[in-house]
Amino acid sequence: MAQRTVSLGGMAGLALLGALLSLSPAYSLALDVQRKSQTPAKCNLAGTWVNDLGSKMVIGTTNEDGQFSGSYLTAVSAVTDATIQESPLHGRQHHTNRRAQPTFGLTVSWSFSDSTTVFVGQCFVDEKGEETLETTWLLREEVATHADDWKANRVGKNVFVRVK
Ligand code: BTN
Repeated sequence: MAQRTVSLGGMAGLALLGALLSLSPAYSLALDVQRKSQTPAKCNLAGTWVNDLGSKMVIGTTNEDGQFSGSYLTAVSAVTDATIQESPLHGRQHHTNRRAQPTFGLTVSWSFSDSTTVFVGQCFVDEKGEETLETTWLLREEVATHADDWKANRVGKNVFVRVK
């Protein structure tokens, strides 16, 4: 009987020690460090990006619904003799704050042509924190007649890296 009392007391002591330790700043710091080393860095769409064609895209901050806007300066155009101008973009990131490497979609309504391009992609972040946007795009050109519909679409891929 006496032995049981001592052993219960020992367990209570251990529990108390555990509770005290978990309150200590050193313990919570150690937990923070462990958590950070296990959590991959979050990819952030906001910033300035350049793709493999040399086009520049600027994305603003994403709102609480995942929506963002920005501008796109393409390095190339399907329109002969076009004077390329900066064009507005609008997009939506999936699951804001829930995913480290989120998918997204964005639309560019070209201000110097009648075409529209949509990009879908995913933001990847490597172990050094370097971010890459892997995207697939669909460019819809305005054609003069319904009969020309067959030639109205182009598809391709672009890889963007952060420059700012
Ligand atoms: C047009 O030619 O009518 C508008 C410009 C289209 C540029 C395309 S969109 C997909 C690809 N990626 C770029 O950065 N530019 C081209």
